Amino acid sequence: MSELSEKLEQIRREIEGKIASYDSSKALYEFRKSMLDNREGRISLLMRTLKDLPKEERPAAGKTINDLKEWALARFEETDRKLHHLEIALREAAERVDVTEPAVSVRTGHLHPITLVTNELIDVFQGMGFTVYEGREIENDYYNFTALNTPKDHPARDMQDTFYVSGDFLLRTQTSAGQIHVMENSRPPIKILSPGKVFRSDDDATHSPMFSQMEGLVVDKGISLCDLQGMLDTFSEKIFGEGVKTRLRPSYFPFTEPSVEVDVSCFACGGKGCKLCKGTGWIEVLGAGIVNRHVLENCGIDPDVYSGLAFGMGIERIAMLKYGINNIKALFESDVRFAGQFRD
Ligand code: DAH
Repeated sequence: MSELSEKLEQIRREIEGKIASYDSSKALYEFRKSMLDNREGRISLLMRTLKDLPKEERPAAGKTINDLKEWALARFEETDRKLHHLEIALREAAERVDVTEPAVSVRTGHLHPITLVTNELIDVFQGMGFTVYEGREIENDYYNFTALNTPKDHPARDMQDTFYVSGDFLLRTQTSAGQIHVMENSRPPIKILSPGKVFRSDDDATHSPMFSQMEGLVVDKGISLCDLQGMLDTFSEKIFGEGVKTRLRPSYFPFTEPSVEVDVSCFACGGKGCKLCKGTGWIEVLGAGIVNRHVLENCGIDPDVYSGLAFGMGIERIAMLKYGINNIKALFESDVRFAGQFRD
């Protein structure tokens, strides 16, 4: 009996001595098994030695073993609970997310301001029933000049310094060349918008040898300057802001008669006069006019039945005005920090 008590006391001391040093419930479980496992646990093995004791000693011995078992169970349970809480707390600390922390920003691409303005212009004119025609960048002399009522030796050719490719071929100086292709290939009613690159030997703070234009052409019965101004009023309000008005001034283009220069009222000062509008209250944005009857004739359209309006604007100029960019070069430098400043 005293031998048994000694063994039990030894087990109790071993459990008490070691249990606090466990820092994971998994390791603790192994320790618990070594003591309490039904088949191999040291306490269970002691239970099995009862049968070797004299019969009268068995009940008391059984009770002491059972008491130790109960005590051990309670100690293991209690320690396991504590470890479990500790483990959850550690895991939560490790997985903690600070929702107030600024997010890591993802670098995204941006549409170039020229693309943004082109898309916006297309949107505005599509709303008025225009469809998009993409012309070609290499033209021949006929489409770029002659058919547009600008024959060889015409002084208007000097307005646009041309890059010649070879022989009769040139880099188009104006998207107006597309008008001829459209009128050759379709019959009125015509209502097209034609964006694209154009090329001129020109280079300073507001001119670049390559730039973009947006051409518009409407041909139908009874088209007049009133239709032109109505469409341009819608355009200027949508692009530059509500209340912006247009003004037509007489001008000259070989392919239109009459020809006009179109100004919008200054959206920076509301027309009072400021640096942007150079004190005039107006800003020039495009050229336009009523399609010259010779141009219609060149395309086989009867000018006594049909009339047309046309307009052409520089997209860089619109973008520079709209976004307050003062050097056209910024639009061609491919600096992503620049492009990233403009949003839809
Ligand atoms: N093509 C002209 C230019 O590049 C702009 C222009 C003026 C286009 C009048 C037109 C127009 O269609 O009617 O300067």
